[in-house]
Amino acid sequence: MQKIIIDTAKAERFLTKDAVKNLESNVLSQQQKLHDKSGEGSDFLGWLSLPSSITIEQLHEIKATAARLSKQSEIVVVVGIGGSYLGARAVIDALSDSFDHLRTDRETPVVVYAGQNIGEDYTYELLDLLKHRDFSVVVISKSGTTTEPALAFRLLKGLLEIKYAAADVKDRIVAITDKSKGALRTLADREGYQTYVIPDDVGGRYSVLTPVGLLPIAIAGIDIEDLVQGARDMEKATAPGVAFEENPAAVYAAVRNLLYQDGKKIEIMVNYNPKLHYLAEWWKQLFGESEGKENKGIFPAAVDFTSDLHSMGQWIQEGERSIFETVISIEKVNQKVEVPSDADDMDQLNFLAGKRVDEVNKMAELGTMVAHVDGGVPNIRISLPRLDAYYLGQLIYFFEKACGISGYVLDVNPFDQPGVEAYKKNMFALLGKPGFEKETEAIRKRI
Ligand code: PA5
Repeated sequence: MQKIIIDTAKAERFLTKDAVKNLESNVLSQQQKLHDKSGEGSDFLGWLSLPSSITIEQLHEIKATAARLSKQSEIVVVVGIGGSYLGARAVIDALSDSFDHLRTDRETPVVVYAGQNIGEDYTYELLDLLKHRDFSVVVISKSGTTTEPALAFRLLKGLLEIKYAAADVKDRIVAITDKSKGALRTLADREGYQTYVIPDDVGGRYSVLTPVGLLPIAIAGIDIEDLVQGARDMEKATAPGVAFEENPAAVYAAVRNLLYQDGKKIEIMVNYNPKLHYLAEWWKQLFGESEGKENKGIFPAAVDFTSDLHSMGQWIQEGERSIFETVISIEKVNQKVEVPSDADDMDQLNFLAGKRVDEVNKMAELGTMVAHVDGGVPNIRISLPRLDAYYLGQLIYFFEKACGISGYVLDVNPFDQPGVEAYKKNMFALLGKPGFEKETEAIRKRI
């Protein structure tokens, strides 16, 4: 099997000579801290060996649950927020037919999402749709008390109870949560839901290769064995002992940290395939929540090209030079569409007749890269031979590993997220949650 390839040449030309070489030993020793469990946040390193520790029996069991839910549902609602849904959505969107939800010949249920926002219109429209459809719910919350998914699940459970008999309701809910504590664990045990455990030592944003990601991905009909195999191969490719230049996670961590030290405070993830939009959303959480602390950290942003070349292209080409780009490039597309010839050629596109649409896309990618590098934007390119479960598995583990190393190079704890609590405290105070009376008084004065 091939490996994903990272090309940093068009970023390194913005750095001083030997800068990467000089950071090499530091990067490798930060990586060693992950493996020795000697750095900050070492209680949350379970993700490091997830690919090699998942057994084939566990994967088959997840597939059996997915098949059971699929058989009884037109729609499966995945309830979760942040790390409890973004990984699944990234993989499902990347590998599903773009118009999957509109197809009548589908073999798998439509996967939709809830509890990732508190939009009332969204919630109403979802509940309204589900009134007339057979549906099941996969509810995912490690803490079991996150407001957004808890609220959505309360409403969905209520609808299930109206539509189905008690025994059927139980069979239409799968809970993925802590092994012993939290509101969702208590409810699941009381009601007899099937459950999966989110390991104590795996944080939300590193949990895509646990049942958190694997069950929804399997429900969407995607091969989770291939996904895990890709991750497993990347676990080996980034293991201690692999030479720096052979370890893509180490190289990526080094180059992005050097660019940051050089004033490039914003990293823009670029794709030329709209299916990768949610991969970038997952990546934004992974790096944003891991590195953005102690007033430090690269700001992770994302664009979908060529769409966003017509909106953000101007800024990227000529705005403040504080950005660099990381491009996810897919070498070989899965489908084939050729540009037809036209007798009138009113649109003057006959020069493209006979060419693949992907060739046009690839030349846009190449032309943009040259333009942006000429405009002072360092460019890192990560290429996947194809967009499939195996290479996505590689990519996911690559980013996770690079993120852990990168956080340590930046000298922050990449495995906590203390800042996420601030908005929750204010929201609870404003909503009058019991126990928040003091905060309510204080916050009202500040509005
Ligand atoms: O990465 C994280 O830890 C967060 O984004 C959480 O995943 C998110 O807040 C959801 O938390 P929970 O799974 O406890 O509901």
